[in-house]
Amino acid sequence: MSTPNTAAAHPSAVHLVQISDTHIREAGRLAYRKVDTAEWLTMTIASVLALRQPPDAVVVTGDLVDFGRPVEYARLRDLLAPLTMPLYLMPGNHDDRERLREAFPEHHWLAPSLRLADGAAPIQYAVRIGPLHLVTLDTVAPGQSHGELCDARLDWLEATLAERVGEPVIVAMHHPPFTTLIGHMDKIGLKSGIPRLAGILARHPNVERVICGHLHRAIDVRFGGTIAATCPGPAHQVTLDLDPEAASTFTMEPPGFRIHAWTPATGVVTHLAASGRFDGPYPFHEESGGLID
Ligand SMILES: [Fe+2]
Repeated sequence: MSTPNTAAAHPSAVHLVQISDTHIREAGRLAYRKVDTAEWLTMTIASVLALRQPPDAVVVTGDLVDFGRPVEYARLRDLLAPLTMPLYLMPGNHDDRERLREAFPEHHWLAPSLRLADGAAPIQYAVRIGPLHLVTLDTVAPGQSHGELCDARLDWLEATLAERVGEPVIVAMHHPPFTTLIGHMDKIGLKSGIPRLAGILARHPNVERVICGHLHRAIDVRFGGTIAATCPGPAHQVTLDLDPEAASTFTMEPPGFRIHAWTPATGVVTHLAASGRFDGPYPFHEESGGLID
């Protein structure tokens, strides 16, 4: 049995695992009448816990549950319990901010950090994971599938980044701020705030990544002078179909998660990991010692 070797490999390394779009339902219910999202999340968590370098923190970038119901959040809480490292949750378009706060009362960073004109209190927070800062944005438009970023939310981002000049930052948000070329997903993409967000990021080159969910696929795009990326789902994936008129469908192709690994020398290096158990590892060397790869 191998032992974790984070300290030996990179004394200052920070490993942030990103899981996204868990879509948990109450026991006995399948998402879209097809997907046991709880079972799939359990498999992804097992894969995270089997990593040779245990992550320093885990962030789940929205669509935590399917209908924003207390019973769903209670089940999510039970399913996430094996993750004993710091855990950071964010809302997506399937979530309900207040039900999320109620289900995780010890997550004090979920408390309102700003108020919108209509009284809504987005979930936006900044936390430290060692030398790395995780800054989250709330793109939720309650009752809607698309996302929005109003000036109040972006004012908060600007002020938060102003306090972290020169320090490594990962910005996390549910709806990606870029066109994905998957037509039906772009129709429910981020509808406001994109030019201003790009401008803010361009003035803060210490933002290493913008990490997103919503797409149930891994996509990487240049944005605002940094790299913006989405994460595969831990269960179902949005069908890979770049036809602008593509039907809104999902597949059960292999699920996964992201590992955002930071070291002082490299900045953030993002890996894409498949969930599940696979054969290996096998050595690249034959018994005779000859190289085969
Ligand atoms: Fe989702």
